[in-house]
This record gives sequence, C-alpha cells and structure tokens, in this order.
Amino acid sequence: MDIILFGPPGAGKGTQAKAICDKAGIPHISTGDIFRKNLKEGTALGKLAQSYMSKGELVPDEVVCDLVTDRLAQPDAAGGALLDGFPRTEVQAKLLRDWLREHGRDIDLVISLEVPDDVLVRRLSGRRTCLACGATYHVDYNPPAVEGVCDVCGGQVVQRDDDREETVRARLATYHRDTAAVLPWLSEHVRVVAVDGTRSIDEVRRAVLAALEPA
Ligand code: AP5
Ligand code: MG
Ligand code: ZN
Repeated sequence: MDIILFGPPGAGKGTQAKAICDKAGIPHISTGDIFRKNLKEGTALGKLAQSYMSKGELVPDEVVCDLVTDRLAQPDAAGGALLDGFPRTEVQAKLLRDWLREHGRDIDLVISLEVPDDVLVRRLSGRRTCLACGATYHVDYNPPAVEGVCDVCGGQVVQRDDDREETVRARLATYHRDTAAVLPWLSEHVRVVAVDGTRSIDEVRRAVLAALEPA
C-alpha cells in the first residue's frame, strides 16, 4: 500500500508515522528526515537542502522527486511506503502518481491531518528533536522522561533549526502558498481521509489507524 501522510508543518506527521508503518507493514519515507540526515553527514544534497530549509522554503522539485523515486525503488518499499512531507507541490504529486503507475502501483490512500495555524505555531515552537535518531518530543505535550535525553536511543534532544519563530512563520506561509492546493488535486484522484489533528496524540493515532481499514 502506498500512503501519503499529508498536513502542514507541525500537524503530527512524524508523530503518527510509526504506528501507520507498523500496522501497514511499510517503510517510512520522510523527505525532511532524509535532508536532515544528509546535512548531518555533510553531503552535497544536505548542504543544498539546508539552503532552502533554513529559510522555510521548498527544496526544488527535481531534487526531491529524484530522491523519492530512488527511495521508492528500493526493495523494502516494493510493497508500498508511507510518504511523510511529500508531495508538497502539484508537480511532485503528479510525478509520484505517474512513477507509481509505471511500476504497477498507485497512491492508495491519503491521510490528511488538519490543524489550524495557531496550534501549529505552539507545537513547532515547543518541539524538540533527537539529534541521533530523529524522534520528536514536545516540551509540554510529549516530553522525554529525562529532559534533553531521547527515550528511544539516549541521544541529545534539541530544538530543530527551522523551529525558530521566524522560520516557523515562513514554513507556514510556504505551506499555504504552495502545498495546501495539492490536497484538492489529490481528492480528485485518490481516497482522502481527513483527520482532526487537534486532538490528543492517542486520539489522533486511533483515527489515523482507522483510516487504514477498507472504506
Ligand atoms: P519536514 O521535516 O517535512 O517538516 P514539516 O513538513 O515542516 O513537518 P514537521 O516535521 O515540522 O511536522 P510534523 O507534521 O512531522 O509534526 P510532528 O509530528 O513533528 O520538512 C522540513 C523542510 O524540508 C521543509 O521546510 C522543506 O524546506 C524541506 N522539504 C521536505 N520535504 C519537501 C518536499 N517534498 N518538497 C520540497 N521541500 C521539502 O509534531 C510537531 C510537534 O507537535 C511535536 O513536538 C509533537 O510532539 C507535537 N504533537 C504532535 N501531535 C500532537 C498532538 N496530537 N497533540 C499535541 N502535540 C502534538
Ligand atoms: Mg516531520
Ligand atoms: Zn533518539
């Protein structure tokens, strides 16, 4: 099953991804996580992506699309994948659908997490992320057991560079300008399940997993 987990920055995509992947038996492909891993490793891709991410802008479509199709072609994704943070433009959405169809697959489901901007700003400004494994926390809503230490791997938990207030505002503006319009396009072509993402993490998880049941 190929699933898109859609939603604005801070909607809870990363938070809900693992439960979906476990239930559907598919790998998690987060374009943002791939860029951050590359940045940490000092690759050319990481440096290029950072020049856009630090301003809250989108990395160019050609770069992201090549990255995602290479990843989707890997053996562990042969039975499908969960795409988190992709597609973010109509060009990306069309390319994804074409690539999947050329490979005997299709976009099977879109789960759209709906959260208003004021809540997103609170979530992103309080988010903390593990430098080692990428696990996410929130200072109020989901703190690690020991402050600054990752529950999963013991790594250091810090604020993501692009979670500073001015970059958060730029990311939200980019979302409304470039990405929100992808959802109506998807709705015309694929089953979209909208989930109220303002509820607690557990309630959202239950709703998201229910979306995996056949319609
Ligand atoms: P990316 O890493 O994808 O960031 P994003 O879309 O901005 O999404 P986030 O990771 O910020 O939010 P999330 O929905 O995962 O929320 P989370 O679960 O962490 O992209 C980063 C950058 O990379 C982009 O700006 C762009 O430059 C580039 N990029 C990536 N993909 C691209 C593409 N396709 N094309 C072009 N450029 C691309 O939750 C947020 C916080 O809220 C956490 O603290 C969490 O604990 C908390 N929280 C979650 N759910 C709840 C809840 N129900 N109640 C209370 N708190 C909650
Ligand atoms: Mg994320
Ligand atoms: Zn960790």
